[in-house]
Amino acid sequence: MKFFVDTADIDAIAELNDLGMVDGVTTNPSLIKKSGRDILEVTKEICDMVDGPVSAEVIALKAEDMIAEGRKLAEIAENIAVKVPLTWDGLKACKVLSDEGKMVNVTLCFSANQALLAAKAGATFISPFIGRLDDLNMDGLDLIADIREIYDNYGFETNILAASIRTANHMSECAKIGADVATAPPAVIKAMANHILTDKGLDQFVKDAAEAKIKIL
Ligand code: E4P
Repeated sequence: MKFFVDTADIDAIAELNDLGMVDGVTTNPSLIKKSGRDILEVTKEICDMVDGPVSAEVIALKAEDMIAEGRKLAEIAENIAVKVPLTWDGLKACKVLSDEGKMVNVTLCFSANQALLAAKAGATFISPFIGRLDDLNMDGLDLIADIREIYDNYGFETNILAASIRTANHMSECAKIGADVATAPPAVIKAMANHILTDKGLDQFVKDAAEAKIKIL
């Protein structure tokens, strides 16, 4: 499973990128707002740093305007994936931009039917939102599994990009289901390293090393 980082925070991306943990980046208008940066400027900086796809989201609602914005975003760098919402207009924009050879990430997906439509419209990525479904007492991971089954049934090449990931557990569950990509905030990716028994075991090793006066350097 590929890891995308769900942030527009340059320092956070750089730290994970140096560790080889970044296969791509996703942003959205809320993350751009949080960064306090100009969308074109910060997106360019991310594209220069990261080799994989960098999703930049349109803000228009009408297909023709989304297409114009998508074309402008795609000019930033070769690795831009234009992000469009899963509306009828968004699907129209997806088809046009995909036919032009641009990577398209269809976002705000909350049902298997929506994912089916995005695949038919030629999406490179479909972004089902796990956490926001969980917030409503629905099961976001079930949606990932349903989309996996449907795409496999028909050989759709659209990549399942599990989004709205809130916990380290979401990451391993997505990997078990077979999501192609999971995009998570930096803190969630770092939390994947945590285990209480690792901390407990290390405490004991540190204590024993001190008592035995073990020195290596
Ligand atoms: C990614 O593409 C999405 O924009 C993001 O994962 C949304 O996450 P949230 O539901 O935590 O805002």
